Amino acid sequence: MGNEARIAIVTGGSRGIGRGVAEALLGEGWRVRFCGRTPEHVETARRELTGRFGDAVSGAAVDARKQEEVDRFVAGVLERDGRIDCLVNNAGLGVFAPVDELTGEQWREVIETNLSGYFYFLHAVAPAMKRQGEGWIFNVASLAAKNPFANGAAYNASKFGVIGLSEAAMLDLRQFGVRVAAILPGSVATDFSHPKSKEGQSWRLQPADIASMILHLLTYPPHALPSLVEMRPAKPPK
Ligand SMILES: NC(=O)c1ccc[n+]([C@@H]2O[C@H](COP(=O)([O-])OP(=O)(O)OC[C@H]3O[C@@H](n4cnc5c(N)ncnc54)[C@H](OP(=O)(O)O)[C@@H]3O)[C@@H](O)[C@H]2O)c1
Repeated sequence: MGNEARIAIVTGGSRGIGRGVAEALLGEGWRVRFCGRTPEHVETARRELTGRFGDAVSGAAVDARKQEEVDRFVAGVLERDGRIDCLVNNAGLGVFAPVDELTGEQWREVIETNLSGYFYFLHAVAPAMKRQGEGWIFNVASLAAKNPFANGAAYNASKFGVIGLSEAAMLDLRQFGVRVAAILPGSVATDFSHPKSKEGQSWRLQPADIASMILHLLTYPPHALPSLVEMRPAKPPK
């Protein structure tokens, strides 16, 4: 990748891991176009980040479950910035309940956000990256993509699915210079993992840890493709 202004899309960039990744990329001189679902969260993040990084950052409310909204957002980025060097597919949520108590609506919310949403963004950016002959797509999965747990039917299924999507897409796109990688974090200190209190969070991974892995992968030479990265807290409580 050259040194001209590099353009990244970060989904779920208004809070948590996505926000940490957006900040880290901005800190390295990238231009970041982020989105989130709730307009107020997007606006708060946009205001704070613009205060620090000026017009290198912009944010929009986009529901990752709606392919038309995703396509419109990506088309807007391409129209304004002319290229997309990096997509960080990260917008996600969890609904946890025994499989027989999980409602169809909850199932669809999780699968449509965590899996279909990742496909919609990947599908929207891939043609531009192929034309460019280069690009990175990071899919933030989870260790829940390989470790099933009770009450995790929808979440586990969505994250197992992300690995399948990510690895197949990697094979489809790598000959075009487009590198696809899945990142599988363990517990990260965000509102997702521990919504009520920040106490007792210090053993967890931090959003900045995921961000620094992404920055590190972006430095790999074009012939190298780490396509699946597991990350876990070094010392979780016993
Ligand atoms: N935290 C962990 O321990 C952990 C571990 C492994 C993997 N992960 C994965 O990492 C990703 C980020 O998690 P996080 O901990 O940062 O969660 P978070 O703090 O709850 O942030 C989630 C972000 O995703 C956005 N989002 C949710 N649904 C969306 C939709 N339909 N359309 C657009 N944006 C949407 C949220 O927007 P709103 O503000 O509008 O809700 C928010 O910006 C998820 O895919 C999660 O599964 C998390």
